[in-house]
This record gives sequence, structure tokens and C-alpha cells, in this order.
Amino acid sequence: EKGGWDSFMDKEIHEDPAAVQRTLLGRFDTNGDITLDEVRIDEHDFKSIDKIIVVACGTASYAGQVAKYAIEHWVRIPVEIELAHEFRYRDPILTPRTLVVAISQSGETMDTLMALRHAREQGSKVLAICNTQGASIPRESDAVLYTHAGPEVAVASTKAFVAQITAAYLLGLYLAQVKGAMFRDEIHQMLDSLKDMPRKIQWVLDTQPKTIQAAAERMVNANSFLFLGRHVGYPVALEGALKLKEIAYTFTEGFAAGELKHGPIALVDEGEPVVFIVPPQRGRNVLHAKVISGIEEVKARGAYIIAVAEQGDPDVERYADVVFWRPACPTLMSPLVDVVPLQLFAMDMAKLKGYDVDKPRNLAKSVTVE
Ligand code: F6R
Repeated sequence: EKGGWDSFMDKEIHEDPAAVQRTLLGRFDTNGDITLDEVRIDEHDFKSIDKIIVVACGTASYAGQVAKYAIEHWVRIPVEIELAHEFRYRDPILTPRTLVVAISQSGETMDTLMALRHAREQGSKVLAICNTQGASIPRESDAVLYTHAGPEVAVASTKAFVAQITAAYLLGLYLAQVKGAMFRDEIHQMLDSLKDMPRKIQWVLDTQPKTIQAAAERMVNANSFLFLGRHVGYPVALEGALKLKEIAYTFTEGFAAGELKHGPIALVDEGEPVVFIVPPQRGRNVLHAKVISGIEEVKARGAYIIAVAEQGDPDVERYADVVFWRPACPTLMSPLVDVVPLQLFAMDMAKLKGYDVDKPRNLAKSVTVE
């Protein structure tokens, strides 16, 4: 059942491209417009939505955080991300025009289920993005957008994450379509980029593992890691940090790269490994330059720099000790690729330390207690 791989995690990371592809399947009409057939909220209600609140935990919440950047940009409505367990206990502002999006791989996470019940009691509509047919969370929601990543067995979430981003992007583009927030051409252009991502993820899986394995061998005894990113690279940094702490039991912290000078740089010492998610060189050039200057800052303090960056980025080549390359893609699509080397890196580290990557200590696949 591991299909020739020596762990489920290995198998599931290699299913990242298929998870994205399958999540996109069957969602378009003959004009190439998005149709969300499992959604039982009528178009009129969708049109009136003026705010989105994502409720989720762990990896699923980082997928939501990625989607916030895209959906706010595309739809021009505010998107808040809230950890499900915090949401319910702080009297959140919910109206019938608020769409609550519950993201969950298992569909059984109690914190997320309680958050969605609370939202519905307050009169908001809930849409679930879920990987498990018929689970409690989709059953209790007004609408469901299934991620078709296939069953995820390893405790650490991998292919579900890229599928969650894909589904949340589809939701964003659908909203842009019904609300007329974007031109049809722009939506189709975004969809084309999205459809192109499985091929780009596959390129990473085909070409980067040797570099990643070598980096893991070199860093296996490191006591701690910092992960830094900006814009959509920020939640990717948080996810990379979570993967490594979960399965390799290494102390990690993820930060927004701009926050470095406001505190975290004090942690940087000779040899400290720092992972940077570097945005594409084209497009958002301002961000690229800012992340590079962050790299320079920590490099000057002797840090060991691991970068995830666009193929051939000369600034990265100059400063980084190790680079996990990504093929060129639009900034908003980059998280779908950038998380992949971080998933592999965490797995390699855990294996080198002799841990069971599928069943990390103290963790359960679905957390059914509050
Ligand atoms: C991370 C991980 C957890 C889950 C979280 C939510 O690898 O597995 O952080 O992402 O417990 O679980 P679901 O998505 O099932 O609600």
C-alpha cells in the first residue's frame, strides 16, 4: 500500500502534483468558467459575501493564510485567518454576509468543528474545504469543496496542504467570477497558471532530492532552525518550520522575514541554520530585494543560509549556502512548489535521526478532542 516507497510520507509527498491536479478536475464548464458543483449556497448569497473568515488548525490554517493573499487581491474583500480554537472563544463578528471557510484534511478536527457550529449558530454560511468524504465537518457545512488529494495516512500533512491551497484558490477565483471582481481573461490566466503547477512541482521532485538529502545530512545535528518568508512565503515558512518540528523533533521557529530586525535576528549566531523562502525575481521585485537584504543581514552574522528560490536567481547564488530551486512561476502560485522541498527536507532529517516519519511521537492524525 506504500506503493514501493518506504514510508507513507514519502509516497504522499510524491503525490503532491496529483493532489493539485485532481483537485482541479471537473470544476470547469465548457467555457472554462469555474463551477463548484458540491456547493449548496446560491449565487445570490455568494454575491453578497463581504468578508471571509478561515477557521482551521495547524497545516490547514497555513493553507488558509496563503489563500488570504490571493483572495484579497482577486476578490477585494477582507479575509481573516483564525485558529479554530481561538475563534470560538472571542465573540467573533459574524453576519449573514460573512462566509466562514473551515479547512480540514480529516474533517474531524474537534476545534474546527466547534468553530463552524458557532459560526452557523450566529447566522453565517460555512463552506468546508475537506479531504474526507462524508466526515463531520463537511456534513455540518452549508457547502463543501472537496480536496481530492486521496487518503493521507502519514500523520504529518503534505499533499493535503497543496490540495487545500488549490481548493481555496478555486473558491477565490469563483468569487471573483460571480462578483465580477476580475475580468474573465484574468481569471482564465490565473487558472492556466494553476493548471501548470503540477508539472512544476514534479520538476522539483525530479531534480531537487539529492540537494535536499545532502543538506539534511549536513544539518542533521543542528539544534534549531529559523524559517523566514514574506507575503505568501511567510505561511510557507511557518509550514516548513512545523514539518521539521513535528517529525524531526528539531526546535524551529517561523517568522515573517520583515520581522527579523524587530527581534528574531538576536537569535542568529555563527552557524545558525536559517531557511529563506525567496519570492520570484520578476513581478513583485520589491519583495525580492527585501528578502535578499534579510539574507545579507543574517549572512553577515555567520548564519548558514538555506534558500528556496527561483532557478538561476543570481542574488541567491551569491549568498546562499544551499539552494532548493523552483521553476519560474507567478508569486501567488509559488507556495504550491516551495513547500515541497521543505516537506522532503523534514522527512530526510527525521529519517537520518532514525525516527518513524509516519507516526511522530505524541501526535494523532486527527485531533478529535478540544
Ligand atoms: C501538520 C498536521 C496538523 C493538522 C491539524 C489540522 O502536519 O498534521 O497540524 O494540519 O491538526 O488537521 P485537519 O486538517 O485534519 O483538520
